[in-house]
Formats: sequence, C-alpha cells, structure tokens
Amino acid sequence: MEPILKADNLTRVFSRKGQPDFTAVDHVSFELMPGECLGIIGESGSGKTTLVNMITRLLDATEGRIVLDGEDITRAGGKTLRKVYSKMQMVFQTPTESFDPRRRLGDGVGESLRNNGWSRSDTKKEAARLLQVCGLTPEFADRYPHEVSGGQCQRAAIARALAVKPRLLICDEATSALDVTIQQEIIELLNELRWQHGSDLSILFICHDIALVQQFCDRVLVMYKGSIVEQGKPDEVIRNPQNEYTRRLIDSIL
Ligand SMILES: Nc1ncnc2c1ncn2[C@@H]1O[C@H](COP(=O)(O)OP(=O)(O)O)[C@@H](O)[C@H]1O
Ligand SMILES: [Mg+2]
Repeated sequence: MEPILKADNLTRVFSRKGQPDFTAVDHVSFELMPGECLGIIGESGSGKTTLVNMITRLLDATEGRIVLDGEDITRAGGKTLRKVYSKMQMVFQTPTESFDPRRRLGDGVGESLRNNGWSRSDTKKEAARLLQVCGLTPEFADRYPHEVSGGQCQRAAIARALAVKPRLLICDEATSALDVTIQQEIIELLNELRWQHGSDLSILFICHDIALVQQFCDRVLVMYKGSIVEQGKPDEVIRNPQNEYTRRLIDSIL
C-alpha cells in the first residue's frame, strides 16, 4: 500500500529583518498510510502548525517535499490547489472563525459542492445529509455561525470538510478550544467517521493533549523545537518514553 501522505525532510525557516533566521520546522519526515490516524504532539511553539501549514500549502516549504496520494504537491498553487483540496481537507481550532459570519452554515458546508458544479437543490440535500452524519439536525443548515455552540460549529466544520469526500483530514487543535465533554464528543464523531470510511479516510491529528492522542491515534509523533524527537504507538510512547522531553511532556499532562 502507498502512503496517502509523505513528508520528506520538510523544513521551514522564517527570516525577520535584523534578526537571525529561525527554523520552525527542521527536516521533518513521516508517512501516513490509508486509514491510519497519526497524532502529532508537542508543546506550544514546537512547530506543529507550521508543519501543517506547509502540508496544506498555506505556507511554502523552505526545503523538502510533500507527496499527497502519489503526487508531489510541494509547490502546488493556483488551479492545482482545487485538486489538492479535493483530497485533503482541514479542520481548525476555532470553528466560528472558519465560517463566514454572514452566511448560513448550510451554505458553508455546501460551498465546495457548488464550486464543483452541483445544483442548488442537490447541494442543499447533501449539506443536510453531511450535517446529519456529523450529529446535527438538518435545521442547523439555516443557522449562522454565531447561533450555534463551539462544539456544534466544529461539527459543521467537519461536515464541510467531508463534502468533497477527502482522503485525508487534517485537524489542527480541532478540539483544543472546546470544553472537555465536548472534546470527547468530537473525538467520538471522528472515531465514527474512521469506522465508516475505513482505509478511504486518513487523519492527521495535531494536538498538545497526549491523553486525547492516546485515545484516538494509531501512532504518534512527538515534536520538540521543530524536530520529531520520538514516535511510536501512543500507549508505548506514554508508558516508556525514550526521550527526556517526551517524559516531561507526559509528566506535565498525566
Ligand atoms: N509567520 C511566522 N514568522 C515568524 N515566526 C513564526 C511564524 N509562524 C510561526 N512562527 C514561529 O515558529 C514557531 C512554531 O510555531 P507554530 O508552528 O505555531 O507552533 P505550534 O503550532 O506547535 O504551537 C514559534 O516559535 C513561532 O513563533
Ligand atoms: Mg499550533
């Protein structure tokens, strides 16, 4: 089986005037297999979001290569991005900010379908179905982002991500802004989606909470100062951390 995502020596250097260059992500390599859920943990500032932003092409890589479903997307831009985003979708930390405040959730969920030429009525039906898959009744399609809770908005954001039937879902701290009980609900939803989609859906789950990663991920990478310092099955990494930094990270949370 070929990996759905391959990061090969990904590196990002930020240059700021009058200051030395800063390497936020330093030669990071990993593979994500179809159907796999890979966690990335690390303290704030360890480079997780910079890594994700390179993979999702929101940020250029200084060095290295990104291969999505067998295709080099390291420099993908413009028109080729639509194809990239039909395979890879993102869910961010603050759901309300990821929806246009002036548009109803149903329109946000259906936007990519409309862009792909779907009719208004088919889009409406599909948006309602996707909301339902994500645990929301169809009437949520008519609400505005400020009329729903953070957890409900995150469900809608996941519904929107699923609209294009992506092979890869990237969640960057998607549960971090939510209350603990709501976090659990979102994890349950993601688990259900994994079960439904099998090897058709892979998840990259970025999180600073190792306990959530332990519940949910098949494998975990530990990032520290821009590098992967450790990786393995979450249970094993937690039980027997090989690295001093990982040990401290675990001690601070558990
Ligand atoms: N656009 C930028 N310009 C300069 N430095 C940045 C920029 N974006 C992120 N950084 C720095 O890169 C480091 C990693 O940040 P980030 O990837 O957001 O970490 P994390 O998501 O793990 O908290 C931080 O020190 C941050 O200040
Ligand atoms: Mg981050």
